[in-house]
Amino acid sequence: VDHLVGIRDLTRQDIELIFKTADSFKEVINRPIKKVPSLRDITIANLFFENSTRTRLSFELAEKRLSADVVNFSASSSSVKKGETLIDTVNNILSMKVDMVVMRHPNPGAAKFLSERTNTCVINAGDGTHEHPTQGLLDAFSIRERLGSVEGKKVVIVGDILHSRVALSNIYTLQKLGAEVMVCGPTTLIPKYIDTLGIKVEHNLRRALEWCDVANMLRIQLERQDIQYFPSLREYSMQYGLNKEILDSLDKEIIVMHPGPINRGVEITSDVADSRQSIILQQVENGVAVRMAVIYLLAAKIGR
Ligand code: CP
Repeated sequence: VDHLVGIRDLTRQDIELIFKTADSFKEVINRPIKKVPSLRDITIANLFFENSTRTRLSFELAEKRLSADVVNFSASSSSVKKGETLIDTVNNILSMKVDMVVMRHPNPGAAKFLSERTNTCVINAGDGTHEHPTQGLLDAFSIRERLGSVEGKKVVIVGDILHSRVALSNIYTLQKLGAEVMVCGPTTLIPKYIDTLGIKVEHNLRRALEWCDVANMLRIQLERQDIQYFPSLREYSMQYGLNKEILDSLDKEIIVMHPGPINRGVEITSDVADSRQSIILQQVENGVAVRMAVIYLLAAKIGR
C-alpha cells in the first residue's frame, strides 16, 4: 500500500506531479460548483489525536470536493480516553470499510508506525516534531504560484525550528525543487540535525532577510517547550519578530509566509501578517487543492 508519511520519501517528479494535479483542482474549487465526482466510492477517516484548525478542515473539504465519504475522529472525545491503543482504534475504524486514513498525532513516527502495522493507506497530517508533508507541499506550491517557480529561490525559515514539523517538510520540499534554504533563530531553537541537511544557519534576522526572497515565519511552540532553555517571548520577539519597520528597511520586497496558527505580536506583527507582502491566506487556500491532489493520486495508486 502507498502512503504519504513524509516528503523525505518523495522525488522531485512526485512533487511536480502533485503540483500539476493541484493546478487542475485549484481551477475546480474556484468554479461555482466546487466538486468533482472522482472519489465517489472512497471512504476516508480523518483521525486527529492533536488539535488542528487548518489541516483538519482543509483535508475534510478536499475529501468532500472529491466526493469521498468522510468520517472524523477526535481523540479527545473517543475511546482512546478509555485506554484503547492506536492500532486497535484504527483497525476498528478500518473494519467499517474505510479506504484511507489521514492522521495527526503528537508522536514523531506515528504515521510510519501506523503504515507498517495496518492494511490501509496513511496520509500524515503532522506527527509531533517530525514532518507535516502536506504543509511542506502547500508552502512550496504557494511560492511557485507567487514567484513562478521554486528553483533557485532563497527561502529562510525563521523561528522555532527545534519543535517544528513544518520546518523539516519545508526543507525537504524546497531542496528537492532546487531552492536555497536557510534557517534562522536562536541557537536554543535550532536542532543539531540541521548540520546534516546542507542548509545555511543564520542567527541574525536582518542578515537572513537581506539574503532571502521568501521568509517563512514559524510559531513558537510553547506547548512543546521546556521554558527554562528558551529566551523569553519578549526577548524572542525583539530579536526575531518580523515587523513593518524591518520589512520596509530592506532594499527589496520579500514574500512573507506563516503556516498558522499565528501568535500575533510574537513572531510577526499584525501589520506584516495582513500586508500585501503576506501570502498567509493564499497558503491556506492552496492547502485544499494540494490535499485534493495528494488524495486523488494516492487513491489511483491503491486502485480506487
Ligand atoms: N498549519 C497547521 O498545521 O495548522 P493547524 O494546526 O491548525 O492544522
